[in-house]
Amino acid sequence: MSSRLNVKVGSVDLKSPVILASGTCNFGRELSEYYDLSVLGGLSSKGLTIKPRAGNEGCRVAECDSGMLNSVGLQNPGVDYFIEHELDYMRSLNTGVIVNVAGHSFDDYCGMVRKLDPFKEKIDVLEINLSCPNVKEGCMSIGSSPEQVKKIVSALRDLTTLPLWIKLTPNVSDITAPALAAQEGGADAIVLINTLLGMRINIKTRRPVVQNNTGGYSGPAVKPVAIRMVSECSRVLDIPIVGCGGIETAEDVVEFMIAGASAVEVGTASLIHPDAGLRITEGLERYCEDNKIENISSLTGTLELW
Ligand code: FUM
Repeated sequence: MSSRLNVKVGSVDLKSPVILASGTCNFGRELSEYYDLSVLGGLSSKGLTIKPRAGNEGCRVAECDSGMLNSVGLQNPGVDYFIEHELDYMRSLNTGVIVNVAGHSFDDYCGMVRKLDPFKEKIDVLEINLSCPNVKEGCMSIGSSPEQVKKIVSALRDLTTLPLWIKLTPNVSDITAPALAAQEGGADAIVLINTLLGMRINIKTRRPVVQNNTGGYSGPAVKPVAIRMVSECSRVLDIPIVGCGGIETAEDVVEFMIAGASAVEVGTASLIHPDAGLRITEGLERYCEDNKIENISSLTGTLELW
């Protein structure tokens, strides 16, 4: 890949703006069978918690028009297993290592960062998950309260010098409030958006399709919501934004960057086409060549509102 795709998200240098989103690439092992993941800007790990989690019971995914609902419930092997068995593997992929940190309480998040900070030579970014909608405590319930966002980000800021990217929930009336709170707390970047809370119903049983009743909606249908939120936040924030939501093509990435994103995360698309990250990256190379763009980051924030 050429240097035309090199971007910076604050102090973090990435080979490309294309990152694989948390929960859609695990720790990289499965997708590495489809293409060389080193073409990517980075990989965000499955959301990790202090203790291993089996995730939610019963049916956890449902197809929807233009997307899907998931209620995985943060199934993961726990942070200790990750550090011992997966972190070196992620580092060996020769791409940005982004560790997605989830928790049920303030203490959980602090405990996670205390455990990960000693491995900072192997980690590029801690992505703080204040947005998973599928657990009863922590995550989205913290991320939808600007006061709690500021409190938790300030506490984590004191525990590590690693870049902190805060992944926010779109399930709020004003996305700029938690985004500004994260910035005030000392965040290095904001990741927008996680999934929209949704429900599907089996009309024969009259029960929700996913056993947790609700799940997070992702895929191309959420893209306009995500782009609107990136645009709103880019007008009020001083820190960079990583855009996420329904990205399937290079043109989608361009749209997010014009709206104000410095980089993007690709999620559901990899579940449809495992090599989506590669296709999008190649498409961006062609876009730069066709439009004589020396560096893709020149697009960031070039939106002109009516
Ligand atoms: O249910 C889940 O594991 C989802 C996680 C997330 O949205 O971050």
